[in-house]
Amino acid sequence: MVIYKAAIVGLGRIGNLFDRDPKIKNKPASHTGCYLAHDNIELIAGCDINNDRLEDFRKDSGIDKLYTDYKEMFDKEDIDILSICTHNDSHRDICLYACEKGVKAIFCEKPMAMSLKECDEMIETCKNNNVHLVIDHTRRFDNSFILAKKLLDSGKIGEIQKVDSYATVGLLNGGSHLFDLLRYYVGDAEWVSGKILHDETTDPGAYGVIGFKNGVHATFDCRWRDYCHFKVDLIGSKGILSVGGMIRSGKNIELFKIESSEGESGIYELKEDKIEEVKSLSPYLNAVKNIVEALNKNEINQESGYDGKAALEIAMAFYESHDFGGNVKVKLPLNDILRKVKARETSFTKDGRLLR
Ligand SMILES: NC(=O)c1ccc[n+]([C@@H]2O[C@H](COP(=O)([O-])OP(=O)(O)OC[C@H]3O[C@@H](n4cnc5c(N)ncnc54)[C@H](O)[C@@H]3O)[C@@H](O)[C@H]2O)c1
Repeated sequence: MVIYKAAIVGLGRIGNLFDRDPKIKNKPASHTGCYLAHDNIELIAGCDINNDRLEDFRKDSGIDKLYTDYKEMFDKEDIDILSICTHNDSHRDICLYACEKGVKAIFCEKPMAMSLKECDEMIETCKNNNVHLVIDHTRRFDNSFILAKKLLDSGKIGEIQKVDSYATVGLLNGGSHLFDLLRYYVGDAEWVSGKILHDETTDPGAYGVIGFKNGVHATFDCRWRDYCHFKVDLIGSKGILSVGGMIRSGKNIELFKIESSEGESGIYELKEDKIEEVKSLSPYLNAVKNIVEALNKNEINQESGYDGKAALEIAMAFYESHDFGGNVKVKLPLNDILRKVKARETSFTKDGRLLR
C-alpha cells in the first residue's frame, strides 16, 4: 500500500480547529482530521506563524514536527501532499515553493489567490512540475450537492431557465463558493454586471447578474447579514431545485415537480417531491480521497485550479463592472489579471477582523 506523506500550512479553523467544534457532525471537518483519517496518508508536519495554533495541532494530532516557517518545513521534510490553509494572500507563494520542492499534490483552500495572474502562476507551475492541484470549493465534494447535480443532469427540472442565488460574507468568502457552485450546475459564465456593496472589510459583497454561455442568467446577492444565507434556486421548465444551507449542517436540497392542480382543472402546479437525501459525510475527506486516487492512478491534473480561477474571475468581474460605473456588462475572460483582492481575516465578524 502506497503511503503519502502530508503536511499542512495554516492550522486555524479549516486547517485543524473545526474538528474541535462539537456542533459539527460531519467529521473530519479539517485538513488535519482528514489526513489522520485516511489509511494511505501519514500526516507528518504542521506549520503556522502562530505558536498557539501549533500547540493546538500538536495536542490534536500528536505530531511534533512543528514549524513557523513553511520554507524550513520543506527543507527538513519530504512532503508528498501539501494543504494550504492560510488566507488567500499567501496561497501563491506557498504553492510555488511547494512545487519547487517536489510535492505531488496540493490541496489549497479557496479563494484560490489574490489575483487572476497568481492563479495562472499556480496552475502553470503545478503543470510544469506535474503537481496535482485541488482547490477546496467544498460543495463539489459534498454528496448532497453532488446529488443535486445528478438531479439536474437527469432532467428532473427540465431545462434550467433562470437562477437566483444568495450568499453572505463577501465576494471572496461566501461568493467564491457560490460562483463555483453556479459554474458546477449551470456552466461557464460569459458576462457579469453588478455593483459592489462597499463595507469596512477588504472583501465586500455585491449584487447583480451573471450571464452564462448557454444563455441562462443568474441573479446574485451577497452581503453581510447577521445569519448565514447560502442559496441557489434553479428555476427549470419542469420544476425547481433549491440548493443551499451550510456545508456542515445537513438538509441541502429541495425539489419541486409539476403536478396537476387540486384546485382547478387544466392547471399544473409545483409540489415538493420527496428525494432520498444522501448522507452528507465529510466533503473534505471526499476531496482527500479523490487526491489519493488521482495520485494512485497517476491522473495528475490542474482542472480544479481552472475552476478556482474561474470563481475568482467572476468576483473580479463584479469589481470591474462597478468601476466602469456600476451594473455595466463586463465580458469574460477579463483583461485585467493584475487586480488584487485580499480576503477578510475571518468570516465571523462584520469588519472581517479577528477578535483578539
Ligand atoms: N472550504 C471551506 O469551507 C472553508 C472554511 C473556512 C475557511 N476556508 C478558507 O481557508 C482559509 C483559512 O481560513 P480559516 O478560517 O481557517 O482562517 P484562520 O485564521 O482560522 O487560519 C489561518 C491560519 O493561517 C496561519 N497563517 C497565516 N499566514 C501564514 C503563513 N505565511 N505561514 C503559516 N501560517 C500562516 C494563521 O496564523 C492562522 O492560524 C481561507 O482562505 C478561507 O477562505 C475555507
